[in-house]
Amino acid sequence: MKRVRVRLGRNSYTVLIGTDLLVQTGNHLKESGFTDRLVIITDQPVKRLYGATLKQRLADDGFTVTIIEVPAGEEQKSLETAARLYAELTDLYAERTTPILALGGGVIGDLAGFVAATYLRGVPLIQLPTTLLAQVDSSIGGKVAVDHGQLKNKIGAFYQPRLVISDITTLKTLSPGEISDGLAEVIKYAVIWDEELFSYLESSLDRIKQFDEKALETIVFRSARIKAEVVAKDERDFGLRNILNYGHTIGHAVESITDFKVGHGQAVAIGMLAAARISSKLGIFDRNDLARLEEVIESAGLPLEIPGLDVKKLVQFMKHDKKVARGKIRFVLPRSIGEVFITDEVSLSLIENVLVGGR
Ligand SMILES: NC(=O)c1ccc[n+]([C@@H]2O[C@H](COP(=O)([O-])OP(=O)(O)OC[C@H]3O[C@@H](n4cnc5c(N)ncnc54)[C@H](O)[C@@H]3O)[C@@H](O)[C@H]2O)c1
Repeated sequence: MKRVRVRLGRNSYTVLIGTDLLVQTGNHLKESGFTDRLVIITDQPVKRLYGATLKQRLADDGFTVTIIEVPAGEEQKSLETAARLYAELTDLYAERTTPILALGGGVIGDLAGFVAATYLRGVPLIQLPTTLLAQVDSSIGGKVAVDHGQLKNKIGAFYQPRLVISDITTLKTLSPGEISDGLAEVIKYAVIWDEELFSYLESSLDRIKQFDEKALETIVFRSARIKAEVVAKDERDFGLRNILNYGHTIGHAVESITDFKVGHGQAVAIGMLAAARISSKLGIFDRNDLARLEEVIESAGLPLEIPGLDVKKLVQFMKHDKKVARGKIRFVLPRSIGEVFITDEVSLSLIENVLVGGR
């Protein structure tokens, strides 16, 4: 088992990463000082896969456990579902000391996290992420939120968990597409921060896609370490945390103009490539590294282009969505593999150019 410490003063916590960890949750909760009653919030597919075993193990360890289930899907990240959860917690007489365990992917982490942050002005939150994306990204850093209408993550808080337990074994029941989705974020970390992780991906993607536990543990550990370091330096997202948006400026636009038919990981892959091509055209990012990035993205099962993507609409969307000064947008661009910089000097025409013309 590996540990990553998220250093945030009084709000510091540990991320545990390893195989077969879920069944040991009770021990880790006891080590963190929890002894009595717990509420697990999860979604239907995850409950079916892991709910009963987790509940039984926790009961064996002396905890009184209630599972609250919501349907799967982004639509559940809503104030309506949060209100339903508040009502259920009230019916259970959940108290300020009753921990909420968020068992599932990023949707459950964000929703249960939001409920934990607001119910009784905050109850302890434990993240038990079960998707690759949740293990490398959303369970760490304390951003919790629900959506509002079409606006994603519009209502939320910074609320750090007390403990994160990333059980690699749970990743085995994900589809290849869900693994690729999470890999987009891993590639992001490698490009912004960690050239060694990038080389590791180059040599290990095949093993990762075959659910090799050692390889998955390595990429979750290294990614979690990077996220923890960035968050520790900029908890409230005023500065350094911006670099985590690499690939996300264009990615978000791709998701929006395709009504989210293009998934998050695919959209981020397009965004990362476009940003790298922009940097390359500006004479900064090396062309060989661009080729390496293309290869890693493709090997991760992610697209190099989206056929039929309406580039004009995309640029229009970005113009309205982002603060555009003199036809230019703020962007995170790679300087080399392992290092990025932020610039205000990317023109809309250059973005259009790389999206239409590729390299
Ligand atoms: N808070 C943050 O910092 C942050 C960062 C990135 C993304 N997010 C949010 O994360 C969400 C996306 O998360 P996601 O990609 O994990 O999607 P998700 O939570 O919707 O999970 C995807 C699907 O996989 C199922 N699933 C979960 N674990 C499984 C397992 N081990 N085996 C089989 N099926 C499993 C779920 O039931 C769901 O149907 C978005 O709402 C996004 O806004 C938040």
